[in-house]
Amino acid sequence: MNAADEKMIVRDYFNSTGFDRWRRIYGDGEVNKIQLDIRNGHQQTVDTVLGWLKADNNLPELSICDAGCGVGSLSIPLAVDGAKVYATDISEKMVEEGKDRAKQTLSNAENPTFAVQDLESLSGSYHTVICLDVLIHYPQEKADEMISHLCSLAQSRIILSFAPKTCALSILKKIGSFFPGPSKATRAYLHREADVVRILESNGFCLQRKAMTKTRFYFSRLLEATRK
Ligand SMILES: C[S@@+](CC[C@H](N)C(=O)[O-])C[C@H]1O[C@@H](n2cnc3c(N)ncnc32)[C@H](O)[C@@H]1O
Repeated sequence: MNAADEKMIVRDYFNSTGFDRWRRIYGDGEVNKIQLDIRNGHQQTVDTVLGWLKADNNLPELSICDAGCGVGSLSIPLAVDGAKVYATDISEKMVEEGKDRAKQTLSNAENPTFAVQDLESLSGSYHTVICLDVLIHYPQEKADEMISHLCSLAQSRIILSFAPKTCALSILKKIGSFFPGPSKATRAYLHREADVVRILESNGFCLQRKAMTKTRFYFSRLLEATRK
């Protein structure tokens, strides 16, 4: 399958069964135990990023691009804290849900600015570019291109998360692939941390901070890099 077809499958998934599944996971309603574990893991990743950004005490001065923003789990709290947020996602449904959630929390309908846009077609320049839990949908070669493009939009800092390719996770993934459930409509790709760091460095960025969120069913390596 070529990269364009793969991207369309991801988009269609997040506009259909994936939307229903992830909207629930990224919400506060009742979910099953596995989904609750993933919800808690994801929240830890979001909280870590918020903690890093808030520690600098300058959020109102920052323009932030949240690429693959989903339902706004990160974009909305960043806007609440005063950052100017441009939140985009390939899925129209996820963006609509993000807009609805923002309306319930924020009085300013202009921030975050939500748009339906794949991250490959993003342009402009932002102090910080963030892309959480999106790369898992793409193989390494495509992820390299995506990271390079995101770097080109970042004036100062880039924050990425991905499922790390470790022995334990590769085995788990292999076992998982023997039991495909109805919600596993897209492939999950693991990425080697060294590969991600290499591509960040080749784009002129230098690793600053990293964190790992690990629950029973959610694994996410978070990297922050700044321009050299
Ligand atoms: C697992 S969700 C993570 C959402 C959000 N970043 C978060 O952490 O709450 C992955 C999101 O990436 C979006 N996505 C996948 N491929 C994309 C692409 N090429 N460009 C923009 N968004 C994409 C999906 O539509 C989905 O909303």
